[in-house]
Amino acid sequence: MSSLFSKTITLGKELKVSDAEFAQLRDFIYQQCGIYVADNRKYLLENRLANRLKHLNLKNFAEYYYYLQYDAGRKEELNRLFEVITTNETSFYRNPPQLQVFQDQILSDVLQALRKSGQRKLRIWSAGCSTGEEPYTMAMIIAEVLKTELASWDVRITANDLSERVLESARRGVYNEYTLRTTPKEILARYFDKQDMFYNVRPELKKLILFHQINLSDMTQVKRVERSQIIFCRNVIIYFDDDMKKKVIGSFYDNLLPGGYLIIGHSESLHNISRAFKPIHYPGAIIYKKEE
Ligand SMILES: C[S@@+](CC[C@H](N)C(=O)[O-])C[C@H]1O[C@@H](n2cnc3c(N)ncnc32)[C@H](O)[C@@H]1O
Repeated sequence: MSSLFSKTITLGKELKVSDAEFAQLRDFIYQQCGIYVADNRKYLLENRLANRLKHLNLKNFAEYYYYLQYDAGRKEELNRLFEVITTNETSFYRNPPQLQVFQDQILSDVLQALRKSGQRKLRIWSAGCSTGEEPYTMAMIIAEVLKTELASWDVRITANDLSERVLESARRGVYNEYTLRTTPKEILARYFDKQDMFYNVRPELKKLILFHQINLSDMTQVKRVERSQIIFCRNVIIYFDDDMKKKVIGSFYDNLLPGGYLIIGHSESLHNISRAFKPIHYPGAIIYKKEE
């Protein structure tokens, strides 16, 4: 093994990552998924990966880096690494003012244009959907707006994430009260079946969503996503550096149909990232439009 890694310290059973090993792992993670692990997260990475090293019977982080590159199990381990470094926090009806704008302005504008053109085909992309709360919320809002008309529309929400583990949970569609804490009671009653302490998403809602794994830093995968009228990518680009943000936002621009909308997280901005979109200011939300 390279002398670069000779600084890995094993104190009793505790595994420490040296600065050089950390830099190497950080560059590797960045290449793989565009997430930049800041210096202040070094110890978090160290703590969270220690179990992986023990599980794989590896002596130090240099061996782990080698494993990630050359071992037959590297693809599976890469998924475990993604799980360690990503933050999957989410909830139903996250950021209600923004969703109100989505329901009253954005969705109604898109539906109206589609009705006018005689094409009842609505495509929405939830990029970085985590455990599914975001795309299910979209589906419930669409169902609420279209009501009985829904049956005559071709609606699909493409929902994807880097982590296969969160996607499995999203496909199951079983949730607890905590993640549903801001969901209106009548919505809970209409779109979920309660079983003991849990809420199961109803099948008619599930069938509107297609979950699959995508790495947003892989442009070949991203280009395969069907073109959409609306893209949600909330609380995802905050983990990327500016180069990666530019690349991802550029790919959203290409994916959107003319007149389409991009909705990012409340604390995120396209300032210095893209000038291609027209920012539209609503009370409680800024929405980005691709002009026709
Ligand atoms: C904090 S969650 C946001 C979930 C949801 N959009 C919301 O706002 O509630 C961020 C998600 O982005 C995903 N993610 C991070 N990097 C990604 C990448 N390169 N490709 C696809 N998904 C990614 C993470 O796995 C995580 O589930």
